[in-house]
Amino acid sequence: MSTSSPELFVELDRSRPRGLRAQLERSLRDAIRAGRLRPGVRLPSSRALAADLQITRGVVIAAYHQLTAEGYLTSRQGWGTVVNTITVPEGSQRRRPPPAGIRYDFQPGAPDVGLFPHAAWARATRAAMRSLPGRSLGYGDPAGLTELRETLADYLGRVRGVSCEPDDVVVCNGFSHGLSLLAQVLAERGIAVEDPGHPDWREQITWAGASCHPIEVDDEGLRVDRLAASGAGAVLTTPAHQYPTGVALSPGRRTDLLDWARTSGAYVIEDDYDAEYRYDRQPIGALQGVAPDHVVYAGSLSKSLAPGLRLGWLVVPPALREEVVATRARGDRFTSSIIQATVAEFVQRGDLDRHLRRTRRGYRQRRDALIAALRRHLPACRATGISAGLHVLVTLPGGMDATRLAATAARHGILIQPLDRYRACPAAPGRSPALVMGYSRLTPHHIEEGIHHLATILNSDGVTTL
Ligand SMILES: Cc1ncc(COP(=O)(O)O)c(C=O)c1O
Repeated sequence: MSTSSPELFVELDRSRPRGLRAQLERSLRDAIRAGRLRPGVRLPSSRALAADLQITRGVVIAAYHQLTAEGYLTSRQGWGTVVNTITVPEGSQRRRPPPAGIRYDFQPGAPDVGLFPHAAWARATRAAMRSLPGRSLGYGDPAGLTELRETLADYLGRVRGVSCEPDDVVVCNGFSHGLSLLAQVLAERGIAVEDPGHPDWREQITWAGASCHPIEVDDEGLRVDRLAASGAGAVLTTPAHQYPTGVALSPGRRTDLLDWARTSGAYVIEDDYDAEYRYDRQPIGALQGVAPDHVVYAGSLSKSLAPGLRLGWLVVPPALREEVVATRARGDRFTSSIIQATVAEFVQRGDLDRHLRRTRRGYRQRRDALIAALRRHLPACRATGISAGLHVLVTLPGGMDATRLAATAARHGILIQPLDRYRACPAAPGRSPALVMGYSRLTPHHIEEGIHHLATILNSDGVTTL
């Protein structure tokens, strides 16, 4: 016969009543040493644990005292009994330390989550909890919370020129989730993608059962003239800042793309992933504002705030809306109402605008630092693309092997990505070698240091002299 506690994973074998205290001590000691009970975790009160385990309170108090004396637990005034930070002998730790030796992370993709505005977010959460009506804590609308859809419709109209009503907005768990919904809805049509482009999106499209048609990108962006021959009935594109080459879709191609969509009845999926970060001028308005019936606009908080929020949105043309919402409802139903209400508050209070103003300045400095460091230490390399976003494309002298170079750099603690990782057909000959370098998570000082280090390694390793 055994007893257990729902608040704490310990089980006592009650067929051995004399050993209850020792069992409890051993169970807690093992859990702390194995890392299952982490430093700072508060244990249940002696009264609550005794009731759960059906033992006398004195047994729990005695076990807590013993483990406190051994240094595993500590008592904090007004807080109760807490797990202490202990040094566990080597070999007994379950959790692995973070990968050792990574000194400069130039991988693209994520923002600097160290800049996340914790205090403003906490204020928005408190305000959201005060005003969130009880009914919003039940099963909600799969398209999203009304307050957030209204807020997003205003925000996107104001900052990106998106033309929509709250009813056109579908809240989702980030862009990747939005794309998976669209890929299911548009599966019959086939979806064209930019090549190079994000490899995960190609995978998602095929996973949803749609055919995926890679279309070349050049220095004016997507080769729109190749769309008709592809047979695709939709295209996923990043017109404001092509991912990952960093070019903007030229004005002529913007017009041609919308003409193709109108004449063939196709849809454009506009991934506007980092349009908030343009450093040299106002960003170009969203394509959606020009052709709302043919463009599905998609955005996310992953670059502007944090990928961990898992919050994004689609602005969906009327003809697709019902199917997109039904697909959402069949899947995970809807996004957490508390997160949605908090985001609505955060945007309405002007906190997103403030955060973007602040981070825009910081990321611009980091971009400038990267470009200056490349010029200084690797003058044969060239940073290309518009002054925007959180990454740059760096072209290398012809004949270099960017994949080998990235592997050499990684052995020295420098993470960079070869452009080939983003290509649908990396082996095609005649392409210039290039790297995709993110600068968002390093300070200007570390960027300068990292590039200097990279140049030293490359020159001394015999990879090449740059
Ligand atoms: C091209 C592109 N689009 C969109 C996103 C955002 O994706 P999600 O919102 O799913 O985090 C990313 C993030 O890395 C991206 O690289």
